[in-house]
Amino acid sequence: MSLILSYKEEILTGKRIYLKPLRESDVTEEYCSWLNDTDINRFLSTKRSSIQELEKYVHDRYDDPFCLFYGIYLKNDDKHIGNIKLEPIDAITQSAIVGILIGDKQSWRKGYCTEVMTLIVRFAFDVLNLKYLELGVDERNVDAVRCYQKAGFLKVSENAIPREKTGFWMRIYNQGQEPKDKPPDSPATQSGL
Ligand SMILES: CC(C)(COP(=O)(O)OP(=O)(O)OC[C@H]1O[C@@H](n2cnc3c(N)ncnc32)[C@H](O)[C@@H]1OP(=O)(O)O)[C@@H](O)C(=O)NCCC(=O)NCCS
Repeated sequence: MSLILSYKEEILTGKRIYLKPLRESDVTEEYCSWLNDTDINRFLSTKRSSIQELEKYVHDRYDDPFCLFYGIYLKNDDKHIGNIKLEPIDAITQSAIVGILIGDKQSWRKGYCTEVMTLIVRFAFDVLNLKYLELGVDERNVDAVRCYQKAGFLKVSENAIPREKTGFWMRIYNQGQEPKDKPPDSPATQSGL
């Protein structure tokens, strides 16, 4: 757990982007507008948010010892284009659920999701020593599914996510190896970004 806490202050650097732990002061009108945009929130559990709600959300994630929540920033101009989080990070099963949002629509389809997912997978396995990561996705969210496949996630469950009949779960194992006590195919819950 102390390992997770130490990463609440660390920046993770990729080729074109960096990930910075999000604080309340990073909440802007623009960030808030992403969550209220129906193009962006179509496949998210969060469908609307005020600035105050968002500040509380970010504050709570920062305070949560089982969560790492990062803003995605472009290296060339420090623009905040989205978020990624590991939540919850489960110390018993050594696993985490991933959620990603590229909120800046100008930044869609430029490979940022793929770059960020690849970076967070390496961090989760090489630094946090997790055994697997999982996520829920709607099959109609084709860019997301494609991005997760490219980062190495495989479909593990035909079961629908309770709130979405067209959803399924994907998982990636550290070094491609399923742990001996293989986890069940449908993880518990996933919260919105
Ligand atoms: C889904 C989402 C994360 C994808 O992010 P992205 O940065 O646009 O994704 P990428 O650029 O890495 O591309 C992933 C796939 O999108 C598609 N894509 C990318 N560029 C494309 C283009 N110019 N034309 C058509 N398809 C394209 C491809 O399938 C691509 O895979 P490829 O590189 O093999 O071609 C982003 O659109 C988003 O955050 N949407 C709103 C929130 C959301 O749905 N989050 C996911 C919840 S599970």
